[in-house]
Amino acid sequence: MTGVDVLVDGDLTVRPMVDDDFATMAGWLSDPRVLSWFGGRDRPMSLLDITAKYTPRLAGTVPVHCLIAEYHGMPVGYLQYYRWRDFTADAAALRLSTLDNPYGMDLFIGRPELWGAGLGSRMLRLVLDHLFGTLGARRVALSAMSHNYRAQRAYQKVGFRRVRLVPDAEVHEGVARDEWLMVADRNSYTHRDAADATP
Ligand SMILES: CC(C)(COP(=O)(O)OP(=O)(O)OC[C@H]1O[C@@H](n2cnc3c(N)ncnc32)[C@H](O)[C@@H]1OP(=O)(O)O)[C@@H](O)C(=O)NCCC(=O)NCCS
Repeated sequence: MTGVDVLVDGDLTVRPMVDDDFATMAGWLSDPRVLSWFGGRDRPMSLLDITAKYTPRLAGTVPVHCLIAEYHGMPVGYLQYYRWRDFTADAAALRLSTLDNPYGMDLFIGRPELWGAGLGSRMLRLVLDHLFGTLGARRVALSAMSHNYRAQRAYQKVGFRRVRLVPDAEVHEGVARDEWLMVADRNSYTHRDAADATP
């Protein structure tokens, strides 16, 4: 697998996660405000849970790349990406053709006071630049719960489009939730430089 060094956009940096980040992750993923959109308030994660889940990823035995976003030098969020062909059962459930060698992504900002200020779309653009530019991905797909309008809007801003509403895609806090499968193609995605040039 090809990893990430450090991706930089001014005051925003995205870098590989290290095990020193586990305590910060446990703080974020035990905050009910974050869990209500990512993971569920019925599934808070302790430091032990985080260590068990992410250690194999950092070791490369689970093929998910884990990244930490830092804003003004402070950790503020998490992103991950993976090749869907490493998770063919999940790809099949989403009716996602692995012939296109699509990549998948997930993300959250762990500090709710920073939501809605444009940081999430900037984090996404940095990683999309890496996936489309460096890794040669042609397609990136992700899912958002149908009532997560803020996430969908953030994804649309960088060029994702909603392609299919998947019924009961995820049990979230005990409720089966529909999710939008959203896809960005290399040609449709709004590159960071292009976005900067927009008046
Ligand atoms: C999803 C997330 C990463 C997006 O990052 P962000 O920094 O908040 O996103 P941005 O500010 O770049 O874009 C959000 C857009 O949604 C809009 N928005 C905010 N709340 C909204 C709402 N309730 N309904 C519709 N749009 C909304 C914002 O105005 C903004 O659009 P604009 O720039 O056109 O004004 C972040 O909100 C987050 O971590 N949320 C909690 C966890 C989560 O939902 N993770 C994703 C799971 S799929």
